[in-house]
Amino acid sequence: MCHKGDHMPVPASLTSSPHRDFELEVVSGAWPADIGGEVLFSSPQHLGTLPYAIFDWGAICRLSLEPGGRGAAPGRFAWQSRSIQSPGKRLFDRHPEQFGGSPIGYQSPFGAANASNTAPLPWGDRLYVTWDAGRPVELHPETLEFVAEVGHVDTWGGSSMPMGGVLPFLMSTAHPVVDPERHCLWTVKLEPVMEPSFGMRPSLVRYDRHDGTAVQHWPLDGITFSGSIHTVSQSRDWVILCDSGNFKADPGEMFGGERTLTIDAEVPVWLIRKEQVEGLPSGTPVTPTCFTMAPPTGHYYARWDDTDGVSVVWEGMDLMDLALYLRPGDRDVNGNPIDPGVVGLYNMAMAPETITEVVFHPERGTIGHVGTFREDWAFNLQLSAMDWSTEGLTAPTLHHVTYQGCRPGNISQRAAQLYADRIDLSLLREETPGALCSFERPSMELKGRWEYPDLGDHITSPAFAPRGAAPGRYAGGEPGGHDGYVVQPVCNDDGFRVELFDAARVSAGPIATLAGANRETIPLVLHSAWMPAFHELTDAERLRFSAEVTPEALASVPEELHAAVHEVARECDELW
Ligand SMILES: [Fe+2]
Repeated sequence: MCHKGDHMPVPASLTSSPHRDFELEVVSGAWPADIGGEVLFSSPQHLGTLPYAIFDWGAICRLSLEPGGRGAAPGRFAWQSRSIQSPGKRLFDRHPEQFGGSPIGYQSPFGAANASNTAPLPWGDRLYVTWDAGRPVELHPETLEFVAEVGHVDTWGGSSMPMGGVLPFLMSTAHPVVDPERHCLWTVKLEPVMEPSFGMRPSLVRYDRHDGTAVQHWPLDGITFSGSIHTVSQSRDWVILCDSGNFKADPGEMFGGERTLTIDAEVPVWLIRKEQVEGLPSGTPVTPTCFTMAPPTGHYYARWDDTDGVSVVWEGMDLMDLALYLRPGDRDVNGNPIDPGVVGLYNMAMAPETITEVVFHPERGTIGHVGTFREDWAFNLQLSAMDWSTEGLTAPTLHHVTYQGCRPGNISQRAAQLYADRIDLSLLREETPGALCSFERPSMELKGRWEYPDLGDHITSPAFAPRGAAPGRYAGGEPGGHDGYVVQPVCNDDGFRVELFDAARVSAGPIATLAGANRETIPLVLHSAWMPAFHELTDAERLRFSAEVTPEALASVPEELHAAVHEVARECDELW
């Protein structure tokens, strides 16, 4: 047990735990009978060759919420972890010496790595994983094995930058969104351009469910910006894009210097009416409706029903610069040496975060602010849970947020100096407890809060599991986010726990807790998602790696590496 004032960074087990399968059992409370399905987690594997751990090759982890499910012993709960064996990872396994680190992940003569390590994306009975610098990757819902990447590179309009190789480089988003009416996925592609000014040009990308070999893309006319698009959101009629503002490529750093760029105080937002691209030939520019919002956000979620405007819960990332990470030799904001166990992890929030609900009125060009919440303890809002059923998105009731608390041990002096004129150091001196909170939508009134006073507890990716959903169904009894459970994973060097809350009564504390049978710990996980348990790979057209191994692409790869490419292409042809 650690107390305020102790030097306590996040658990060292986040970087030292292996990826493995194990079983959990109920250690307190009673596991309810009306919960089902499973929670998926994305995780960068810590293979140890990249300075920034969040760019490493991805794994998918799965926690079954059903005792005895997914091969667990009776009464126990399965935790499974699988390396995502994409074509790039298969080439890495054969030729690790060919892959070097860069500020945007592994680069190699084979091309760019698609790490697919950030977020699981359930889509009906199909499961995808995503990251910001690659295409969505589909996994088998039973075995979790790699199945296919989405969309031939030519249909994406080519790589974001011409880099050669057989692995395309596609800057995209970690959070595409599933359109339940059009049966498509909305995502983006970013490419550096010189016109109309130097920066990133975004394109809206649509992938239709029946055919994974092709996507369509439409550049946003006249738009360039200097950031990234971490999330895509939507209402029934609109796609919402914005500059996340918290991850900026610094040219000085790319050439080996220190970072000097800092994140913006406000960001551009672009709304595109879905009708605008209906039947519009791929590649044709489309004009968005533009807004400006503050603070920058990593994650935002629109209500599906847009009859009275596009209502969005905007999870602020105030002074959370995700391009900063902890390096060997760093000192923290209090002058202490950084714990070697957290080297390679990201620099944590330097201010409390704002969460707000706003309504965009694209026809009028106005924004209405409905409700805002911000308190001094509200540090490290990076993860949340909501009801993703179409019914729940239509009329959301509760939005659950995991605040990890202030962690001065994970804020470097370098970062504090870079932001010296924008931070309040007095708020950054002490560790503060994490808390799981429930906010009412759209008022953003705090309806529930459960605190984690043990500073050794690092709470991560929560997920909402609806109460009493029938097998294969996303919607439970009363959709919206209050009728069901919040699954709250808790990392701790003394053992990983899963705490289960009644979503309507988070303040009452967990109703049941799971722990590993041998006090197992888990490595760093990023986003999570709840999904019903599916077992079959659905029939669909899918992209084969071999379709991208063209003579032209192969010609850009050194001859002595061709054998590995052909081997991987043959292996992937056998996958389904
Ligand atoms: Fe994210």
